[in-house]
Amino acid sequence: MVNIVSLFRENIKRLKPYSTARDEYSGKIGIFLDANENSFGSIPTGELNRYPDPHQKKLKEKLSKIKKIKSENIFIGNGSDEVIDLLLRTFCEPGKDSIITMPPTYGMYKVAADINNINMIEVPLTNEFQIATENVLNAITDSTKVIFICSPNNPSGNLMNKNSIRSILNSFSGIVVIDEAYIDFSDYESWISELENFNNLVVMQTFSKAWGLANIRVGLAFGNQVIISVLNKIKYPYNVNGVSQQIIIKSLDYVFKKNEIVEKIISERGKLTKALLSFVFVKRVFPSDANFILVKVNNANKIYDYLLENKIIIRNRSNMIRCRECLRITVGTEEENKKLIEILSKYGD
Ligand SMILES: Cc1ncc(COP(=O)(O)O)c(C=O)c1O
Repeated sequence: MVNIVSLFRENIKRLKPYSTARDEYSGKIGIFLDANENSFGSIPTGELNRYPDPHQKKLKEKLSKIKKIKSENIFIGNGSDEVIDLLLRTFCEPGKDSIITMPPTYGMYKVAADINNINMIEVPLTNEFQIATENVLNAITDSTKVIFICSPNNPSGNLMNKNSIRSILNSFSGIVVIDEAYIDFSDYESWISELENFNNLVVMQTFSKAWGLANIRVGLAFGNQVIISVLNKIKYPYNVNGVSQQIIIKSLDYVFKKNEIVEKIISERGKLTKALLSFVFVKRVFPSDANFILVKVNNANKIYDYLLENKIIIRNRSNMIRCRECLRITVGTEEENKKLIEILSKYGD
């Protein structure tokens, strides 16, 4: 077991969180004149005049049932991006501590590290986009506080090897974050089921992908109660707005609908992979457990520009390590994918 509290930054250990009006009086009935809200209502109309629940209690209760995990083990953030930032602010002393990431991977780990003035040690994935376990273990120093593992990884789309993750969890006495933003598109079980075995594990998920709710910014972190409570302590009091909370509470009644759409995306991913492989300019389509596909082509810049001219916007990932001549394509609707293939079939005519 890792001593989590000893990993907290000193100022975080000492921090007294902000106490909201609703923390001081949590009753539901009465005349509320304690939060400097506007008792007349919202403009032009509606009932958005009261601050939202800072603890997202109802939402957590519902999530708790669905994810089969206690509310105390759930943190809700303004997108996963907030969770990444808060984890760094909790555990990493600016100008002193470091994190490990495994490029090519999601770009926000670096941005958050740079903003917080935290050193980032990059240990590239192997040529097959797997964790170079020995290299990661060798890169750990006394100042390494957090290791980010993205699985399925963005932009490669594949899941990270379970044994590699397990050996990092067993050997590292800092925090291991597994970013599962795309887990719904894979057949594999979430690492949430392993939280009981590793108190230094944090699993991140999001409503932005499978749930199609990127606009309302809701991300999740699951972890040991000590970690979750410190994240709650340092977050902005009203980090998840009330409208977002309400929408998610409603959406959670439609898990079947989410599953249906995920099935469609997976089926489209298969069709798209097959179609892409038929083009001579496609050198490789990397296997994907996500809602996007990484494709190695003959001339990525040229194909990217050609698609852009045809109003199809994809992501050119050629400048990332191990991604030379690679394009990342999000799986769209059947119609969108057909159009993409139709346009690509005219490339070079
Ligand atoms: C791996 C990964 N994690 C997190 C996110 C962002 O999630 P959110 O919208 O919840 O901030 C993305 C978005 O592209 C991502 O690719």
